[in-house]
Amino acid sequence: MGPIGLVDGRIIDLSEKIVEMEDRGYQFGDGVYEVTRIYNGRPFALRPHIDRLYRSLRELKIPGVYTFDELAAFHDRLIKESGLTSAAVYLQITRGVAPRTHGFPETTVPRLTMSIRPAKTNTELQQSGAKGVYVPDERWLRCDIKSINLLGNILAKQASKEAGAFEAVQIRGSIITEGSSSNFFVVKDGALWTHPISNLILCGITRTLVIEKIAPRLGLPVIEKEFDQSFAFKADELFLTGTTTEIMPLVQMDRDKVGDGKPGPVTRKLIEAYDAMIANECGAK
Ligand code: PDD
Repeated sequence: MGPIGLVDGRIIDLSEKIVEMEDRGYQFGDGVYEVTRIYNGRPFALRPHIDRLYRSLRELKIPGVYTFDELAAFHDRLIKESGLTSAAVYLQITRGVAPRTHGFPETTVPRLTMSIRPAKTNTELQQSGAKGVYVPDERWLRCDIKSINLLGNILAKQASKEAGAFEAVQIRGSIITEGSSSNFFVVKDGALWTHPISNLILCGITRTLVIEKIAPRLGLPVIEKEFDQSFAFKADELFLTGTTTEIMPLVQMDRDKVGDGKPGPVTRKLIEAYDAMIANECGAK
């Protein structure tokens, strides 16, 4: 069986041609999305992902339509039908199909599409640490909305790919905002630093779990405050957080080594605690 998806509640083969030419997601990028990891055949942190989806929809004035229970059931169906236990589910809701004109259509019937694909933790890279590059943040001013319009993020990720790096860390003005598909943290003198919640970053689910659940348990203070590249240069450790990235140590930024060039003790403890949290919620990692 090839990769499968789900369109408005119906399981489909991903090779089926179902996108309508006048879907506003296709024509304008007028839609929102979520990515949720599946461990041991169960979704991890589904509730906060769906809550953030509703927030993104509200900000764009797209009707919610689907309840949490319906969306949870769609995740379960995709997991069951695919037989995958370690996977990522992609969920997208667009403003639906309407004749092409910029303003919203009079009536909106949102279009839900989902897919499931195998995914796994990159444990080798977590152990060796990854390389990052700094790039200018060229995105729009509503990065808090998880919009399917990802051109800025795509150009940033491509720049990191061409530099042989794992992630592009974006800088707006002189301030470090976030990765192209992850949030960015500095470890300095035993405290975690990260960009505060604002319109300039996505309020990452993994970021929130680290700040609200893991750091307090490990006795690590968290400082949500803007900082620049010279501050990050003096860091003891750097790491990224994200649903598919999980917690990833950065051991090199551009040409500069971070600390001694190996994943540091704080990041390693965070990874261990995050793995334990997944095992606790999903039965196993
Ligand atoms: N990316 N910042 C950006 C710009 C992101 O795209 C993501 C997630 C994050 C981390 O958020 P979370 O912890 O909720 O995954 C931060 C997803 C996984 C993606 O685009 O595939």
